[in-house]
Amino acid sequence: MEYERALRELKAHGQEHVLRFYGELSPEEQKALLEQVGNIDWELISRYEHPENLSGSGKIEPISGLKTAEIERRRAEFTACGERLVREGKVGAVLLAGGQGTRLGSDAPKGTYNVGITRPLYIFEQLIRNLQDVCAQCGATVPLYVMTSEKNDAPTREFFRAHDFFGYPASDVYFFRQDMAPGVDEAGKLLLERKDSLALSPNGNGGWYSSLVRAGLDKDLRARGVEWLNVFAVDNVLQRIADPVFVGATALSGRGCGAKVVLKAEPHERVGVLCLEDGKPNIIEYYELTEEMANLRDESGDLAYCYGVILNYLFRTDILKEIADRRIPVHVVRKKIPHLDERGQLVTPERENGFKFETLILDMVRLTGSCLPFEVIREREFAPIKNKTGVDSVETARVLLEKNGVKL
Ligand code: UTP
Repeated sequence: MEYERALRELKAHGQEHVLRFYGELSPEEQKALLEQVGNIDWELISRYEHPENLSGSGKIEPISGLKTAEIERRRAEFTACGERLVREGKVGAVLLAGGQGTRLGSDAPKGTYNVGITRPLYIFEQLIRNLQDVCAQCGATVPLYVMTSEKNDAPTREFFRAHDFFGYPASDVYFFRQDMAPGVDEAGKLLLERKDSLALSPNGNGGWYSSLVRAGLDKDLRARGVEWLNVFAVDNVLQRIADPVFVGATALSGRGCGAKVVLKAEPHERVGVLCLEDGKPNIIEYYELTEEMANLRDESGDLAYCYGVILNYLFRTDILKEIADRRIPVHVVRKKIPHLDERGQLVTPERENGFKFETLILDMVRLTGSCLPFEVIREREFAPIKNKTGVDSVETARVLLEKNGVKL
């Protein structure tokens, strides 16, 4: 974008301060800043004034799902269907690795974290191993789409290359960058993180599909005939990816989406809970459940709101396009955003000082209109690495990996 046009556009939105330091920048820096201005989604920014009430306001009810006893009973049928779909190339996998991993406290991409003890074992490596198990089981390769962010794209690609894709066929791995969204202060003014850059951050884990389309990879999905996409988080080192039994169960259920879930350990466990809201699947936060709902039991004595999500979803690809066309809601989230003050000095706020705009994958689940909760055994498939120590940490994941026979 040219300077004059950028200035006009910024003025029209009361944001001309973005070019405050323009005169101090090198030609390359000027170009980079103007490009960012050209990418601003003004409609998105305006939402800080009217954050939507996005969930929890409708009629909440328990959702029916598949528990392990039923899955065991039908395992052979589900597995045969899932294996066939993988073999026919109809299943792809999407690794969400665009997050900032702030809780782990490392600047490197989270997947490059080494969880090994006596030998290196990187998070990405362990995920690839898990996927290779399925490829071996089905005799086919599952295309893997890796979502990175502006901040970690180059090191992520480099890491895969340096490790020879951990033996996965490189031609079946695609990287794409997640779109970024700028942060604003409490008055809705765009913040600068440097003189040549807005304070940008990844636009939330619901941005994966629009970013994949923007990268042109939907064409690849169509060319390959991919009908199901298994979307999963980078940090659960035990998860099964493109798991045939899960794929088969979801496909045979006729629902447009499946969610791997674990049974809540206790009524108030701090996990998102899959339920129905006004008859549609939805994931609500643990604190949105009333005391009565949290403790409610079904006829067999189990918790009625028992399905905790683990960020492993299966989407039918034809539905994804419809969802994207209807636009995923945007969450306006209060955050601490480091930024430059009027004199160009960096301010690192101690309290929330502005808003970020994020879309969430759980809203995509809601928009599918029908979702199958599929129970997995926590100790076998859920070892999230969020923190360095304590709950959901490198330490707890190591214990679980070893329990499942992974040599560390
Ligand atoms: P988390 O919500 O745990 O965020 O992401 P995070 O960035 O990894 O970690 P913290 O909160 O900063 O410590 C859940 C999953 O969604 C992905 C993450 O990479 C992870 O796989 N994610 C999150 C994205 O891909 N993009 C985002 O914008 C946010």
